[in-house]
Amino acid sequence: MSELLKKSREYESEFEQTISEEEKPFFHLAPRIGWMNDPNGFSYYNGEYHLFYQYHPYDTVWGPMHWGHSTSKDLIHWMDLPAAIAPDESFDKDGCFSGSAIELGDGKQLLMYTGVKKIADNEGNISEFQTQCVAIGDGRDYIKNKNNPVIDSDMLPEGVSKVDFRDPKIWMEDDTFYCVVASRTEDWDGQLLLFSSEDAVSWKFEKILVKNNHRFGTMWECPDYFELDGKKIVITSPMEMLTEGYEFTNGNGTLCLIGHSTEDGTFEYENFQSVDYGIDFYAPQTMLSKDGRRIMIAWMQNWDTISYRSKDTKWFGQMTLPRELSVRAGKLIQQPVREIESLYGEKIEKSNVIINKNCEIEGINGRLLDMTVRIRPADDGFEKFEIRVAENDLLYTSISYDAINSLVEMDRRHCGCRKAVVNTSCCKVRDNDREVTLRIIMDRYSIEIFVNDGEQVMSMAIFTDLDADKISFSAKGQAFADVCMHRLEEKNR
Ligand code: FRU
Repeated sequence: MSELLKKSREYESEFEQTISEEEKPFFHLAPRIGWMNDPNGFSYYNGEYHLFYQYHPYDTVWGPMHWGHSTSKDLIHWMDLPAAIAPDESFDKDGCFSGSAIELGDGKQLLMYTGVKKIADNEGNISEFQTQCVAIGDGRDYIKNKNNPVIDSDMLPEGVSKVDFRDPKIWMEDDTFYCVVASRTEDWDGQLLLFSSEDAVSWKFEKILVKNNHRFGTMWECPDYFELDGKKIVITSPMEMLTEGYEFTNGNGTLCLIGHSTEDGTFEYENFQSVDYGIDFYAPQTMLSKDGRRIMIAWMQNWDTISYRSKDTKWFGQMTLPRELSVRAGKLIQQPVREIESLYGEKIEKSNVIINKNCEIEGINGRLLDMTVRIRPADDGFEKFEIRVAENDLLYTSISYDAINSLVEMDRRHCGCRKAVVNTSCCKVRDNDREVTLRIIMDRYSIEIFVNDGEQVMSMAIFTDLDADKISFSAKGQAFADVCMHRLEEKNR
């Protein structure tokens, strides 16, 4: 094992002890210590789910990228493992960037990632090169292949950037390995490249799978490509998205293209949508669960809002709750993984509660919960409904429904944030006679809202003091609310 990897393993096991349980999310994965960004190598291997992540253990800001590592039996309870790889070779000395994982025929696990190398010329000008590399291991320790980089930039066709060429997502089809890699043209237009291999080590360039044609942002990052309910799906995270109405409002956005593959094996889209309409969501990655569900997880942060954090924190960055994906009427549907039910404690259900002025509902409070609120008009004057969560005398986060314009908004301006970052986000939902269903999942430092049975999702991080645990309701006009809340708790500890 390299000195660099050994050092990171020693560091994380010593310093993670300084973080108390309450300082971390309860059921969302956060780094052992230091900084986390993209999920990597999300996979099922050897009886466990594996999730690696972009990791800088020594600080709470981005730095030389290692891969952090955790495993889970149920996608809810995560166990931290030692860092998997460190930037310790000439081909990745400036970072082991994002990538994916797959099980090989001999039972070993292969990690495929981007090696970053900077080279200075005689005048001191620095050029960066990104290439694709592999490491093979047993689910704990990994050895980098001696043929690395296995996809070098000299395999790229004319006009394709050698600098922005990263984030391989690997899969197997008909006994052949494939990977899609994020890329851009020399004039900053995102595209995905397709490669194939017989052994996952010796790779061949196949084709440009899909081109952006200057439609969605610039460079595309962290691609994924899979089949779902008879459709081909591309998920990617374009940089510098242009806002279109209520779509793509986060700068660095996420994009889902739903379509089919053409006769020449390229991808053509029929529909597109944002993957998440909240504030903090980037670089999603999917895998197949052991029972065949397509599950997605993402970094519940956004590059544009990373300055919003709690003071003196020893960790930064967390993952979303894993989500089950499907396609309904040409749209991507997302549901929280059903395994969340293993945390269900006390259940409180209240039906037909009339909401007009500001009120609380008996028993409805807390910071760890899975709460579904169905809202219906109770009179003709019903225009707006608001739920305030994580509330005390001063602070709250607002979730509101504008029934006239069919908008759901999340607003954390009063959650204790001292930074002028994006703090509100709006989602145009289905016009349904002023009726909406919001499933709100709250952990200590995040809120995820699944709208209308997973038709849209909104995610954000909050760092409100944990004693702010009131929940209140109000409406303009009168509405009925049906509330079903499950407290989330650890039962087997
Ligand atoms: C996306 C990203 C990836 C890259 C990684 C580096 O968030 O920029 O494209 O591999 O982060 O940490």
